[in-house]
Amino acid sequence: PSLRFDVSRAAAFVAPHEIEYQAAAVRAAHDLLHGRRGPGAEFTGWLDLPERYDREEFRRIQEAAARIRSDSDALVVIGIGGSYLGARATVEALGHAFHNLLPKDRRPGPQIFFAGKDLSPVYLTHLFEVLEGKEVSVNVVSKSGTTTEPAIAFRIFREYLERRYGKEGARRRIYATTDRRRGILKQVADAEGYESFVIPDEVGGRYSVLTAVGLLPIAAAGIDIAQLMAGAASAMAEYAEPDLAQNPCYQYAAARHALYRKGRTTELLVTYEPALRSTAEWWKQLFGESEGKDGKGIFPASVEFTTDLHSMGQYIQDGLRNLFETVVQVERPRADIAISGGDAGDGLGFLEGQTLDHVNRMALAGTLLAHTDGGVPNLLLTLPELTPYHYGQMIYFFEKACAISGYLLGVNPFDQPGVEAYKQNMYALLGKPGFEARRAELERRLNG
Ligand code: PA5
Repeated sequence: PSLRFDVSRAAAFVAPHEIEYQAAAVRAAHDLLHGRRGPGAEFTGWLDLPERYDREEFRRIQEAAARIRSDSDALVVIGIGGSYLGARATVEALGHAFHNLLPKDRRPGPQIFFAGKDLSPVYLTHLFEVLEGKEVSVNVVSKSGTTTEPAIAFRIFREYLERRYGKEGARRRIYATTDRRRGILKQVADAEGYESFVIPDEVGGRYSVLTAVGLLPIAAAGIDIAQLMAGAASAMAEYAEPDLAQNPCYQYAAARHALYRKGRTTELLVTYEPALRSTAEWWKQLFGESEGKDGKGIFPASVEFTTDLHSMGQYIQDGLRNLFETVVQVERPRADIAISGGDAGDGLGFLEGQTLDHVNRMALAGTLLAHTDGGVPNLLLTLPELTPYHYGQMIYFFEKACAISGYLLGVNPFDQPGVEAYKQNMYALLGKPGFEARRAELERRLNG
């Protein structure tokens, strides 16, 4: 079974012909992408990755994951942005809601912690407290090898592991995922003899979850990565269809583009399942970094319902009408709870015999109609179940929709020139050699 995309709830805002009229533009975007002739074509390796991935490396990933499961209580994954979000999203979506809190014998893999995704000394200090008494492995993930946040975290963790296990012991507990040839991390990994995995040149950070970047931590957490890839491969085949009328992935790209052109400049990814919280973070990076450039782009945001119906719900129902929602619905939950207890005096007797999932589902249906009535177009993506297979399909659905959306918008969906600005300033303010003039200028501005 496939994912289902439904644009009909937005019909009051975008008529079917507004989507149909984009068929030629979508076809052109498809040809650019598949012909590898569009802007950023050198970063389209993700397009056929589910079919063309390196089987030998995949086997090594599974072996390393098995080793980590057998010799570690905790795996610390160090990375940021595209070198972090996909792994976290997938582990949380497909794992147990309280994975890290489960007793060891009931956990399918080690506890998973993330580091190098911020510069907070408090977070790291507390993480070390939690790691006390545990056997620890580290997976450092950085394509460039020079990103400040993970580079500092790795420096700290390397010292920590060498202190605890000795140089040789630490060597066996460090896994490096980085560029095939270039970069400082690659040099360090080679010099120290760490087991290394490759981020292919032609796959950018936010498109890298189905490479070793995501796969090693995901497999270590006990999730079936072969199924994840199989799902992505099925999506790759299904969404290779050039005809907009036959391709739900392209319909999503066309619908959001039509909405954007009519002033819907903020898209909210809506979920009704806490396990999908980090998926929304991954999605925001994918679309935000791909489209937000040249003074253009939909602003991607997210809400988690029903939680946020009690906070952001008011704005969505009644605030500025520049929004649309993309609801990710999961058809069959992995668990359900029957509501029993008869008339318990709490006024909820009418729910007797229903399940909690049914209530969640009615909340979704009711909200969809209320928000549509309130003037917010709703797009709906349905996953049959939150399994590795369907999640792999969803990853590919969003990746490809994002690329097509970028081409419809007339941007390069695969670069991120804007993320450099803060880094240059930070390096200068920290006194990095070569940044002296900029430092003087920034300090004058800050102190002036
Ligand atoms: O999508 C991107 O390119 C970024 O988010 C990067 O993934 C992020 O900056 C981390 O880069 P690196 O893997 O080089 O450390």
